[in-house]
Amino acid sequence: GEWDVKLDVITTDLAHMQRAAAQLKSTDIPVAFPTETVYGLGADATRSTAVRGIFQAKQRPSDNPLIVHVCSIQQLKDILCSNGSHESIPPIYQPLVRKFWPGPLTIILPNPKESPLAPEVTAGLSTFGARMPRSLLALVLIKLAGVPLAAPSANASTRPSPTAAEHVKDDLDGRIEIILDGGPCDVGVESTVVDGLTNPPSILRPGGISIEQLRKCPGWENVVIGYQDVSEKGIRPRAPGMKYRHYSPKAPVILYEAGAKRPSADIVRGYAHRRQRLGIIRTKFWPPACGLPIHSTDMEGIARGLFSALRELDKYGVDAILVEGIDDDEGDSAAAVMNRLRKAAEVRV
Ligand code: TXA
Ligand code: MG
Repeated sequence: GEWDVKLDVITTDLAHMQRAAAQLKSTDIPVAFPTETVYGLGADATRSTAVRGIFQAKQRPSDNPLIVHVCSIQQLKDILCSNGSHESIPPIYQPLVRKFWPGPLTIILPNPKESPLAPEVTAGLSTFGARMPRSLLALVLIKLAGVPLAAPSANASTRPSPTAAEHVKDDLDGRIEIILDGGPCDVGVESTVVDGLTNPPSILRPGGISIEQLRKCPGWENVVIGYQDVSEKGIRPRAPGMKYRHYSPKAPVILYEAGAKRPSADIVRGYAHRRQRLGIIRTKFWPPACGLPIHSTDMEGIARGLFSALRELDKYGVDAILVEGIDDDEGDSAAAVMNRLRKAAEVRV
């Protein structure tokens, strides 16, 4: 059909990919692979022991459900129509799937009664998230494995998501055996998660597809925001109302919301006085910082560079990271970028 993937474009790495696919089929060790958003940590979504391998490697809480990655519409339909179930993809998703798949969009579907998916994938929910990534390596890997792959981002739990193979190695070395290296990720933030099973439909996580893009699709004109960015500024307690620590580098992140006054020379000098090393992530207006002990980084291609900038400053061993925020409606991934930064931030200004 129109969604089928041609395998013959892959030449050089086919043997490597076949090894990865064989490991996915015959062991419970997950495989890290690139997608256009972030690197994923994949396992056969139909085998419980394989899916548990993901939670183990990541140290992820088991009540956080995983996204099921498919390489064709048929493969998704096979999940919905198996063991006597005859579900179909709800029509509300049709314009989205046509427009954004393969790509950074995850749709929430009802999990059929006799689902072939391992229960660990859905963490007990009656629904599951599905997405068809656009990275060719991801598509080929799924095709070779012959099963849908459950895959969260391939970072250790709480760390920034990996947007390069090296980031995966930094987090999971010794815990997994294979990382397929597809170079740096194109999008740099995770997929947008949408729920079209409710009326009006909602966005559960902002990501690579923006609310404006969704609103142009029939049936999605009134899509609502179903996630929460904590909106009060100032010091934010870590514990209440926030279940998981997320996207966090080792150093505390101090987020300057768009329009906030940038950090004064006094503030910067204060860190130096205390012999603390400061990391600064700039986006639009802040001038380049110079002189030690400041490490400055541009959030190059803002979404694409976000997670690697946080990781880079960690490598310098800075004591604090000041980040120049952007407007949520600055561009297609801006809301996703600010959502991740607000989750990562210890303090917001
Ligand atoms: O771009 C991405 O989506 C990446 C790449 C690897 O595909 N994956 C990713 O997975 O970000 P993960 O596990 O880090 O995030 C999955 C998100 C979580 O916010 C989870 O709560 C939500 O999807 N999710 C999964 N299944 C769900 C369901 N049935 N209902 C609501 N939310 C669900
Ligand atoms: Mg994640």
